[in-house]
Amino acid sequence: MSFRGLARKILFSERVFRMMSGEYTRSVPNLYATYTPWYVSPFAEHYARIRDKTEVSPDRCYFLQKFAAHCCNLSGDFVECGVYRGGTAYLIAETMKLKGGRDTLHLFDTFEGMPSIAAADPSAHRPGDFGRTSLSEVRAFLSAFDFVRYYPGRIPETLGPLDSFRFAFVHVDVDLYDSAKSSCEFFYDRLVNHGMMVFDDYGFQDYSGSAKRAVDEFLQDKLEEPIVLPTGQCLMIKSAL
Ligand SMILES: C[S@@+](CC[C@H](N)C(=O)[O-])C[C@H]1O[C@@H](n2cnc3c(N)ncnc32)[C@H](O)[C@@H]1O
Repeated sequence: MSFRGLARKILFSERVFRMMSGEYTRSVPNLYATYTPWYVSPFAEHYARIRDKTEVSPDRCYFLQKFAAHCCNLSGDFVECGVYRGGTAYLIAETMKLKGGRDTLHLFDTFEGMPSIAAADPSAHRPGDFGRTSLSEVRAFLSAFDFVRYYPGRIPETLGPLDSFRFAFVHVDVDLYDSAKSSCEFFYDRLVNHGMMVFDDYGFQDYSGSAKRAVDEFLQDKLEEPIVLPTGQCLMIKSAL
């Protein structure tokens, strides 16, 4: 191996990156050729339909879709907290339709940007961030799916109508500590056995004091483990009723 090749191998080795980065690691290719189905057909076609309507990267959307598809085999409704322009909601709805499910997808957001509580959140978000959306825009984007219900306003105040419901799948993409904590507190008890909660922002360093802290605090005295994914997401599978 040439000197350049050797230097490159050492510099890009997983061990060197780990030494440099502590608890958080910058994602870099490890130079192994790794199967990445989120970049190619058929998933690439799914992602192309939502690309302009989501902040969520293809790899995270791929995992989200697979988890949602799994939960179509369970009985219970689906939820997304944190919809913004409707990209990931569309992916979940499309998956439910393709799997022939008969459940409802409930969507929670202000639909006008981050609420005022963002001002005191440990993340860098401020009230009004993600304001480039509206309920009518999201409704129009998801108009092909007649099983979607909308709850505009602030979580947790908007959760009341679902008090007696049971859920199979909950996607939490709200970025803020209070919003993530309220989502855990409401949906965990209503999640069916083997149901899943997926947290989008858990692993990103910017959200260590918000989304991650909320999930870790909530699960501290529960049976379930937060399963951290290399995408930055975290999965929780309900293991007891
Ligand atoms: C990162 S965006 C969601 C991204 C979206 N899933 C996508 O596909 O791009 C976060 C959203 O959470 C919403 N949000 C955060 N806290 C909220 C709360 N307490 N009540 C309602 N919406 C909230 C914001 O309005 C924002 O639209």
